Amino acid sequence: MTGFNTRAIHAGQEPDPATGAVIPPMHLTTTYKQDGVGGLRNGYEYSRSANPTRDTLQTALASLEQGTRAMTFSSGLAAEDVLLRTVCRPGDQIVLGGDAYGGTYRLISKVLEPWGVGHSPVDLDDLDAVRAAVAPETTRVLWCETPSNPLLNIADIATLADIAHAAGTLLVVDNTFASPYLQQPLTLGADVVVHSTTKYLGGHSDVVGGALVVSDAELGERLAYLQNAAGAVNGPFDAWLLLRSLKTLGVRMDRHSANAGRIAEWLLEHSAVSAVLYPGLPEHRNHEVAAKQMSQFGGMVSFRLKAGEEAALQVCERARVFTLAESLGGVESLIEHPHRMTHASAAGSPLEVPADLVRLSVGIEDVDDLLADLDQALG
Ligand SMILES: Cc1ncc(COP(=O)(O)O)c(C=O)c1O
Repeated sequence: MTGFNTRAIHAGQEPDPATGAVIPPMHLTTTYKQDGVGGLRNGYEYSRSANPTRDTLQTALASLEQGTRAMTFSSGLAAEDVLLRTVCRPGDQIVLGGDAYGGTYRLISKVLEPWGVGHSPVDLDDLDAVRAAVAPETTRVLWCETPSNPLLNIADIATLADIAHAAGTLLVVDNTFASPYLQQPLTLGADVVVHSTTKYLGGHSDVVGGALVVSDAELGERLAYLQNAAGAVNGPFDAWLLLRSLKTLGVRMDRHSANAGRIAEWLLEHSAVSAVLYPGLPEHRNHEVAAKQMSQFGGMVSFRLKAGEEAALQVCERARVFTLAESLGGVESLIEHPHRMTHASAAGSPLEVPADLVRLSVGIEDVDDLLADLDQALG
């Protein structure tokens, strides 16, 4: 079973042996009957430690990312927290892309910093600067988000893996925007893949969650230890919703990418727009790297308005088919103003985003309706 869509539908999932139910049942249980003290059935003891529905999801995700082990959590940030507290100690340092998601930056700069873990933002495009920032003794993690949120920058995963490994550092890739259907960072040399499964993996804007995927068994063991010890696991219903969503990930991403590509080209021609940020455009400064490591370019498009912040706010408020809301990756199209909404926590920091920027999460509606909506919103 090697094809992506076949694995998305079947990996880790067999019809229920008791009834033949084609969809494995959801295990809404906290605890498990023991056959005598310590006589666990298939290792199940308590659902913070392991639950069959979560295990099925973890098996499916590991397969889709071509890793050996996946761990799922109650949110993307809970996954990031477990990862960083597993691998970093006081005195260590994290080097991260200067355009990482604002919540990631807040976790690193506001929560981990008081515990003695330092950080330095760097432009991941400037490979000399990355080499200079990654210090062999102290840099524990090189953190890369590609495509990045909300600037849609592209980092060269294979090259960053070489730089990280030369210094004995782990390369972490936040693969939320691409999803494993478009990009598989572990196959390019990354050590850990992070997901906010809230986004494309969930795909229907109805479940918050996160995941870590690794190839190295020993690292997987250490992460699984803190997953249980800190306890921010996802519940069985959330895991079941994600399993259902994974089955359509490929067809959804095909349509997200096609719609976003059309919209990016259309925006490029619009007189009110000063810049369109989409890795699928040949004009994108890292289009070639994107084309090398992604199979398509995804559903996220950002653009800047010539008339500045007020114009950006107006476009967001005038849109009708695009819903004004945070988050992304669902079947419905969303529009937002990162400076005041998703990335407000980065205000005043080196990761602050421009105020004239609008971010679109392009859904899978009919693209002509989306274009007509943007046309009226842009006035
Ligand atoms: C790229 C990226 N990584 C991580 C996160 C955090 O995930 P969550 O909101 O599920 O905690 C987000 C959330 O927007 C994100 O966009």
